[in-house]
Amino acid sequence: MAQRKARTIYTCTQCGYQSPKWLGRCPDCQQWNTLHEEVHTEEKSGTSRKSVSTGAAPMLISAIASADEQRRKIGIAELDRVLGGGIVPGALTLIGGDPGIGKSTLLLQAMGQVARTQRVLYVTAEESALQVKLRAERLGIKAAELYLLAENSLEQIFSQVKKLEPALLVVDSIQTIFTAALESAPGSVSQVRECAGQLMQVAKSSGVPTFIVGHVTKDGSIAGPRVLEHMVDTVLYFEGDASHPYRILRAVKNRFGSTNEIGVFEMADTGLREVSNPSEIFLAERAEDASGSVVFPTLEGSRPILVELQALVVSAPYGTARRTSIGIDHNRVSLLVAILEKKVGLSLASHDIFVNVAGGVKLNEPAADLAIMAALASSHMNKHIPARTVVFGEAGLAGEIRAVSRPELRVQEAARLGFERCLLPAGNRKNLDAPPGLELVGITSVQQALERLFD
Ligand code: TYD
Ligand code: MG
Repeated sequence: MAQRKARTIYTCTQCGYQSPKWLGRCPDCQQWNTLHEEVHTEEKSGTSRKSVSTGAAPMLISAIASADEQRRKIGIAELDRVLGGGIVPGALTLIGGDPGIGKSTLLLQAMGQVARTQRVLYVTAEESALQVKLRAERLGIKAAELYLLAENSLEQIFSQVKKLEPALLVVDSIQTIFTAALESAPGSVSQVRECAGQLMQVAKSSGVPTFIVGHVTKDGSIAGPRVLEHMVDTVLYFEGDASHPYRILRAVKNRFGSTNEIGVFEMADTGLREVSNPSEIFLAERAEDASGSVVFPTLEGSRPILVELQALVVSAPYGTARRTSIGIDHNRVSLLVAILEKKVGLSLASHDIFVNVAGGVKLNEPAADLAIMAALASSHMNKHIPARTVVFGEAGLAGEIRAVSRPELRVQEAARLGFERCLLPAGNRKNLDAPPGLELVGITSVQQALERLFD
């Protein structure tokens, strides 16, 4: 037997940085108090790593089947879209997100679809098989070929996979399984990394597409899936605000497709419902004749979504005025307020300013600039923006309005939902044909935009 030597190392639970001594702050990712002690037992002879060679011979590139030819649809359109059109054999996909956001629910529903025709193994290392069964009943899943395994030893999981030969494997979650090859506790960085590495090897050699669930935690007590991001083929993040029913599934890495796609879901009491028409939902509760409200066509990847931007400007008689923004970068709002002060002459300095994106959506594109300024001006002047109007454009510090990307998609979505007028950068206007029913108004400056909106 090879001789073993134990040593203690400290590993950052956020980024996987390793240090021989404890440090208060990780020098790599700059997080505080994320280094935790782990005991490493290494085999001295260096034979612990099995060779990963498959003994493959060189192949002509044209002889290799492309991913698209082998792709299979899951049957949940929003999920298939984010995966790049379906699942590819041997792909290892990580679904990350906050605890309780709905990762297990999403995967159980997806597996319920696949298991109508193909054998699926769902390994639940967090919940008991009974809990999963109860949830499946509530979700109305009646799948003929769905197998559950409540197990957290990786070796046991592999032996069951060998016996069952499923067409698809789910491991929920990577932080609660462990391999006997390492002595550290489940959830530690070395365990998470080793287990993911072995799952990758098995997925690749057997061709079984595998999904793993990973929790993201802020306190760093369990290893964040960030250390896994570079190991797996696809990383999907399931995001959302716990106080809103909407969830967005976003690809942040995809070896088999674009990372520009999102899937939108709504959490209901019967599980996740696909939202194929997000614009209608985000605008459903809009008060059309209220001041400070404007509709902005944002792009999530290649998907246009109309969202409502709201601003509230109220006078602040004493002290420092407050600036609060939800769903939009705070600095961006300050910059736009400064442009309104200087270039349009609105006196906002002594006012509290609140900006919000309805529905819990987060915007991070500069194309929202003009809409934010329009909402601020509307609230300040107490004049409402005509209800059937959408606004987009990036603002420069001189008050000029600059062209933004993919205007045609934004304009089409607005026309589709029955909007009648669209204020957009003149630079975008000149290359576009107006869709039927929608008037396009090219804008060169903030001043001009406000005149057009409130004349
Ligand atoms: P879950 O999938 O267990 O989250 P995760 O695996 O990401 O930790 O989802 C848990 C939450 O979803 C829980 O707060 C309850 C809610 N939920 C519903 O609202 N409706 C449902 O039908 C289900 C199954 C869960
Ligand atoms: Mg779960």
